[in-house]
Order: sequence, then C-alpha cells, then structure tokens
Amino acid sequence: MVTKFSSQQPIGMFDSGVGGLSVLRAVRRELPNEDVLYLADQAHIPYGPKSKKKIRRFAVEITRFLLERRAKLIVVACNAASAAALHELREKFPSVPFVGMEPAVKPAAQRTHTGKVGVLATPTTFAGDLYASVVERFAQHVSIYKSICPGLVEEIEAGNLDSPKVRGILHEALDPMVEAGIDTVVMGCTHYPFVIPVIEEITGPEVRTIDPAPAVARQVRRLLLERSLLNPGESRGTLRFYTSGDLQAFEELHPKLLGEAGDVQQVKWNDRLHLSE
Ligand code: DGL
Repeated sequence: MVTKFSSQQPIGMFDSGVGGLSVLRAVRRELPNEDVLYLADQAHIPYGPKSKKKIRRFAVEITRFLLERRAKLIVVACNAASAAALHELREKFPSVPFVGMEPAVKPAAQRTHTGKVGVLATPTTFAGDLYASVVERFAQHVSIYKSICPGLVEEIEAGNLDSPKVRGILHEALDPMVEAGIDTVVMGCTHYPFVIPVIEEITGPEVRTIDPAPAVARQVRRLLLERSLLNPGESRGTLRFYTSGDLQAFEELHPKLLGEAGDVQQVKWNDRLHLSE
C-alpha cells in the first residue's frame, strides 16, 4: 500500500514515556508551525530492559495508531525503540518516512581530545545493531565508557530531575568515567537530557554533553523538505498528546519538561491501541 501524505498533516512521535519530549522540544524550535501528535507508552515503561520482540510489537502498533490519525512522518523519539524496531518499521511501512534515534557516538568521537567518551543509554540500546554499527564505523579509535544508569528513567518519569536518588545514580555512572578521563558524554536515552544540569555539575566544565535532539529535528526538517511535506502555515502548530499511562500525571508533568502544554488523551492497550472513552 502506498500512502499519500500532505503538508498539512501532523508529525507523529512516540516514546515509552516523557523522554521523547526532549526531542519534541527540539522539533518545536526547528519546526514551530508543524502540528504534532505525541504518544507516551507509559503503560509499558521502561522499554530499556524489555525484549526486542516486545518493543517491536509496541512500536508497530503505535505507528499504526499515529498513521490512522494522519501522521505524515514518524519520529521514533526513543533510542530503545529505534534500536529494537526501526528496521522493522521501515520494512512494514515502506511509504512512511521515519526518523529514529541513534547514539551520538559519531560527533562524540570526532570531538574528543582525550579519546575517551562516556555513553549513557539503556540495555536495549547497547545491545542493538545500531549502536554496534556506529561504534564500528566511527569510534574504533576511541575508548567508550558505558552506563545504563539503572532507575534514572523511572525518576525522570516521576518528575524528579534533581533528587538525591538522581544524583546518586549519576554519580555512580559518571564518577568512574570522569576519573578515567572522558571529555565527552553522550545522551543515548531521550530521557537523560532532562538531567543535563546535574550531569554537568558532576562532570565539571571540562566534559561536554551531547544531546542528539537538535540534529534529529534538523533531519525531520530535511526529510519533510525532500518530500514537499513541510507545513507552509504561519501560525504555531498544535500539540496533541496520548498516554497509555496515568492521564493526570502526564497532564501535570509534560508542561514542566516541555515548557508548553497540549491536550492529553488517554489510550488503552488490549491487543491494539485505542482511545479510551
Ligand atoms: N526514552 C527511551 C530511550 O531513549 C528509554 C526509556 C525506557 O527505558 O523506556 O531509550
């Protein structure tokens, strides 16, 4: 089936939770007049420790849900879902433009002076072919220090961006890296940019953090332009959110993380995703 898209249709985005809002924030800066649909699959958070098979099933169904609501391009605003499912999504929906996340190891490897780079991501991301391939292609000459920051996604989901627990998790992850001499640290999970202020406090001014969201937003613009799908409207685009988790919690948290608010609707899983009445 070949789907025809038009420039007035919204961009669709999804993540396991609020992490993808760090990508949405960049998309809003880059493309302020695009309408956006954002689905937070909080019923299944965290994705990071789940099997690829499960994450693929979620990603395919969420994509179908967003396409049914006329999304013209899908941003997989989750490194774990990109690692587990991006390939399959492109195969299953060949006429749909997808933009996914890949750990920003390439810019880190280009910029490091010490030859030592930290990467913070979830287990699925580290286990994926995307990660292996960027390391193999761009970072063979670099020493990489990895951490999965256990519990950090959950803290950020609870709106804790600077709690003693967050600081504890980040110290455990970063202290050995700083000790080893990293000068660059990559946000390999879309939740983590929300704690960059704490990360930078711990690592000090010598270490540079890389949030891939602005580059991803530029890629969204490039793809839309290439396909003549950029929205020509001049007014600010609308935001609509869906969560499979707690409606009220999402309503309260998303404006704090994003700096602006949109309508939120509840969705439910049975085998498929549907709007709850
Ligand atoms: N935000 C997701 C990512 O970028 C992961 C969070 C989770 O484990 O669900 O990988």
